[in-house]
Amino acid sequence: MKVLKFKIRGISLKKVFFLSVAIFFVLICFFIHASYISSVEAEFYRIHVEEYLLQDERNSSVVPRKRHGCILPDYDPFDPSILQYIRPWPKIYCGRMQPYLTYIDDEGYIHRNISGIKDSGISNADLQCAYQEIERRNHSDDRIRIRAPLIFNSPEIVMSEFVVVKCYQFPYSRLVYETAHAYVPSLVSKGFKPVVNEANKKRQQNQPSVLILVLDSMSRLNFINQLPKTYNFLTKVLKAVVFKGLTKTGDNTYPNMMPMLSGLAAYKHLYADDLLPGEKLWIPVWGGFDSRHQNFDDVPFVWKNFSNAGYVTMFAEDLPEYSIFNYLAKGFLKPPTNYYMRPFWLAIDKMKTFKSSDSRCYGNTPKHVYLFNYTEEFVRKMSQVRYFAFSFLTALSHDHINSIKVVDNDIVSMLRRMWVGGALNNTVTIVMGDHGNRFDDIRSTVIGRVEERMPFFSISLPESLRRSHPHLLNGLILNQARLMSWFDMYELLMDIAMNNLGQVSNVPRWGTVGLSPFRPLPTNRTCREIGIPRTYCVCGNEKDMNPQDFHAMEAADALLYHVNNMIKVSGSSSKCAELKLVKVLSAQLLLPSEPIISPTGLVLETRVSIETSPGGAQLEAILKSDAWSENGGHVIGEVNRINKYGNQSFCVEDLVMKLYCYCKSFLVQSV
Ligand SMILES: *[C@@H]1O[C@H](CO)[C@@H](O)[C@H](O)[C@H]1NC(C)=O
Ligand SMILES: *[C@@H]1O[C@H](CO)[C@@H](O)[C@H](O)[C@H]1NC(C)=O
Ligand SMILES: *[C@@H]1O[C@H](CO)[C@@H](O)[C@H](O)[C@H]1NC(C)=O
Ligand SMILES: *[C@@H]1O[C@H](CO)[C@@H](O)[C@H](O)[C@H]1NC(C)=O
Ligand SMILES: *[C@@H]1O[C@H](CO)[C@@H](O)[C@H](O)[C@H]1NC(C)=O
Ligand SMILES: *[C@@H]1O[C@H](CO)[C@@H](O)[C@H](O)[C@H]1NC(C)=O
Ligand SMILES: *[C@@H]1O[C@H](CO)[C@@H](O)[C@H](O)[C@H]1NC(C)=O
Ligand SMILES: *[C@@H]1O[C@H](CO)[C@@H](O)[C@H](O)[C@H]1NC(C)=O
Repeated sequence: MKVLKFKIRGISLKKVFFLSVAIFFVLICFFIHASYISSVEAEFYRIHVEEYLLQDERNSSVVPRKRHGCILPDYDPFDPSILQYIRPWPKIYCGRMQPYLTYIDDEGYIHRNISGIKDSGISNADLQCAYQEIERRNHSDDRIRIRAPLIFNSPEIVMSEFVVVKCYQFPYSRLVYETAHAYVPSLVSKGFKPVVNEANKKRQQNQPSVLILVLDSMSRLNFINQLPKTYNFLTKVLKAVVFKGLTKTGDNTYPNMMPMLSGLAAYKHLYADDLLPGEKLWIPVWGGFDSRHQNFDDVPFVWKNFSNAGYVTMFAEDLPEYSIFNYLAKGFLKPPTNYYMRPFWLAIDKMKTFKSSDSRCYGNTPKHVYLFNYTEEFVRKMSQVRYFAFSFLTALSHDHINSIKVVDNDIVSMLRRMWVGGALNNTVTIVMGDHGNRFDDIRSTVIGRVEERMPFFSISLPESLRRSHPHLLNGLILNQARLMSWFDMYELLMDIAMNNLGQVSNVPRWGTVGLSPFRPLPTNRTCREIGIPRTYCVCGNEKDMNPQDFHAMEAADALLYHVNNMIKVSGSSSKCAELKLVKVLSAQLLLPSEPIISPTGLVLETRVSIETSPGGAQLEAILKSDAWSENGGHVIGEVNRINKYGNQSFCVEDLVMKLYCYCKSFLVQSV
């Protein structure tokens, strides 16, 4: 026992010495390493953040925010920085390529327009007119059949919703007139027996109809600037509530309308960079990354829930090539709604004889008139039943911020006619955009960037509902300036469809992340929590950086590398030119929303916009970096194309490559 004890003590004396030296050495190393790390991080912090913070502290506005939740931008619609982009726009002038020789009346009879014929100088007896029914082909959203011509002299009942009409003048059979008519058949003639039963006629007082009118690419400020009469009518007469915190959930129409209409996200990749390591996406996603080969028949669209509740449904869009579910995709095999206008637009797209020099017209009629008339006729004819109408106008506002102003009068007079006629007596009227303008010059301003992310949304409750359910309007007003996403609008529509209009909801939610704006929304919600990808979040504070700043240049290089790499990985390198950096257009430091207490572990987000060549693409993205990232960090979320790509990428079909590709064939041409 004694010996053993001594021995241990002997060994431990030596060991203790060595061990101490080793520990001391390790500590030194650790200390050196730690101080190296912290000095690198401190330097990173000092270079990129401190200067900016100091500038602002001198101005006594504390930049990193001390509280959670979103501080929404609230710009003046008449800010001088954007007013310079608000310009006049040429009125629609179709010319008079052809007289107005025929029309369909309210009962579905097709007529010769006697006064129109007189006006045209053609003798009624010399004129032969025939109509052809337009029929949607089975199992296709893109093919229609135009049936054999049926000659008519006196008014005749038309058995189809859409017809093409042609008139020839004798004796030479010269084509003098070609047009198409859309007609909303009454429920009985459309074979709706189950929908129009007595129970539905005596619809419950508290379950209103829904009319949604969407104007592509309309932000709130642009709406106020371009459509002042409509804005006034909505807010003053219809007592609409306008949301100031609605933020988009994806780049273009589809990823924004998908969440609103189905509660599902459009693409998984939108959220890839918002997830914490190992975290799984909690928002269900419809379909895959590339929707080209999909049809959308099985999506649980909210209009199916309205249908189940006995509503008559309608869906109308102009521009058939670019419509929400058809652009580089397959649309619907079966008509998605009871009334579906697409076959009409496909037919009229084919008519070339009386082309107006104004591309906004078909023959002698502005295109939007067809959409508006159809919508109005539907609303008027269905005012005695419950309906869900979704009407989407793209052509007049997609590319330019100013082009929509030419229809201010038409929109306001349509709304006024419907309202005065009592057709909106029991209708929740929603007028909205899907996102803001993505391509016009205003996009390069600070306000333009924010506006791109913040669609217009107005909702007007009918007086009957305001009176019977005052809490609904109170909820909407309370939420006016709170952060919202399209997932919330899905909840709102579902509340109506499911008759969940009480002060307290019967369900936590219908989908997965949204909450109905009919009831108070939390003030501390975050973009991430409600499905707004980081790229589109407008909640954080930011500071402009000098585009020549070293960090901005590094970020620009990293963005360029990322885009060229995407082109390579997608297998498009053989068709698309490699892009080079022309210049950095702008850069912003995105400041974290929580106070920066210490520089340790700082992660920096920088937004950078660049111009590339060939093709002059303007690209914008957010990059994440910390003290240890090499080469400017990495891109998080989507890379936005912020000017038009037009025909530059005609050689690729991929939805993402369309944005970045500059087809090599153009290079060959210019040599
Ligand atoms: C500080 O305030 C002045 C005057 O209000 C302003 O001109 C300047 O741009 C501000 N500086 C920063 C860094 O915000
Ligand atoms: C009939 O023709 C007249 C004269 O051209 C025109 O003003 C009117 O709008 C036409 N009616 C219809 C219903 O198209
Ligand atoms: C369309 O398809 C349905 C079911 O597949 C069939 O019953 C119907 O007859 C078809 N209609 C036409 C015009 O081919
Ligand atoms: C809404 O309609 C879809 C499609 O018909 C259906 O799957 C879903 O269960 C409905 N939702 C509710 C809450 O009834
Ligand atoms: C649209 O409706 C207006 C008013 O109801 C009518 O005068 C006009 O003829 C219609 N236009 C078309 C192209 O149907
Ligand atoms: C709409 O409401 C007004 C006022 O309550 C009423 O006079 C009118 O008859 C109603 N119209 C319809 C079509 O229900
Ligand atoms: C928001 O506030 C609620 C209740 O006050 C709290 O339970 C929730 O965790 C908060 N959310 C965030 C993101 O801070
Ligand atoms: C786009 O350009 C290519 C090559 O010049 C041409 O073949 C194609 O028809 C153009 N497409 C459109 C829509 O202009």
